[in-house]
Amino acid sequence: MDDPVAKRLVDSIIADFPDHDPGKRPIHTVGIGVKGTFEASEVARTYCIAEHFQIKRVQGKRVPIPVTVRFSNGSGSPKRHDGWNDVRGMAVRFHLAGDRATDLIAMTLGEFFVRGVDEFLDFTKSARQTPVKRESALRKIGDLLSLMRPLPNPPPGQNQSGDAGTLDYANKHRFAQLAVFQAGMIGAPVSYVRAVYHAVHTFFIVGPDGVRRPVRFSWKPVAGVQTTKDTSKNPDNEYLQEELRRRLKEWPARMMLMMTIGEAGDALDDPTVPWPARRVRVVMGTLTLKKVAEDQVRDGEKLSFNPWRLVPGIEPSADPTLKARRDAYEDSRKRRGVTQCPFLPE
Ligand code: HEM
Repeated sequence: MDDPVAKRLVDSIIADFPDHDPGKRPIHTVGIGVKGTFEASEVARTYCIAEHFQIKRVQGKRVPIPVTVRFSNGSGSPKRHDGWNDVRGMAVRFHLAGDRATDLIAMTLGEFFVRGVDEFLDFTKSARQTPVKRESALRKIGDLLSLMRPLPNPPPGQNQSGDAGTLDYANKHRFAQLAVFQAGMIGAPVSYVRAVYHAVHTFFIVGPDGVRRPVRFSWKPVAGVQTTKDTSKNPDNEYLQEELRRRLKEWPARMMLMMTIGEAGDALDDPTVPWPARRVRVVMGTLTLKKVAEDQVRDGEKLSFNPWRLVPGIEPSADPTLKARRDAYEDSRKRRGVTQCPFLPE
């Protein structure tokens, strides 16, 4: 039976994007599928027994794990606005033996906006689009005179935005502030592979010695982070996919999988709270992105990632937001008419 909470969550996202296309994802709508491989680091298997963290060799040669990655813009609009201020997504599917798979979904914010279903519904309500206000020249001078940085103009063509409502929400709810203010200043990356992506929630990993550790995963670009300086002046709405095609024709792009290990007292079930900076971090492996997928329907549009597509060795935390995502992504997949493959483990 369809889950009513999942339906409400997806409906609430759809309501934020008046030009939502029912055949497409309601959020992170514009994206591009890429093919590559993942190789676990030598230490990865000492922390986690999951299949993709093991080192497989055939006749002495390492066999990397094939992956499909979908990079996306965060917006639920089906129109491409690559130069706009927006969170970006990176969903990775590790293809394992016997047609099984595991997913790791990440985005360019380190923390999430809310702690659970009710807050998510309130937050999305606050994020309804309203007309964008541009500051007048007089107001900008006033801001400068009072030593305030004037608000940047929205990019050409952006007339509606949910920013005013989410700022208002963040002003009233401390837990949302980190994510909302960071999202407001995040800009646009020069490339999908020049940004850091975070899986945000806490997961538990199990080691070969049976030790369970709370962890958070992030992807770091080997080419380094680079964001466009001023997105308000960047009228280029279509450069990220072309940049990736050009880049991968010349050379593969690499991303490192970083794993931060939590300690006693760290927030395990609350994705709005960052962990202290001085935590042990382990490089779990390297992703090598080789080419843009030839079949963008099969390896992009018709994929359905789910943060609960996990394998033995990685377990979800009790984070209520993470819990809600399982059925919300399923609800969205069904609405898009996508067949679930590979199946989600029970
Ligand atoms: C309760 C909280 C959340 C809800 C209800 C939600 C809902 C959704 C839905 C419905 C989709 C479209 C799924 C599809 O049609 O295949 C989606 C996509 C996505 N979400 Fe979330 N989401 C939540 C939290 C998060 C968080 C915390 C992250 C960051 C790790 C995230 C990152 C993404 C990304 C990157 C995609 C695009 C995946 C792809 O390329 O297929 N979401 N989300």
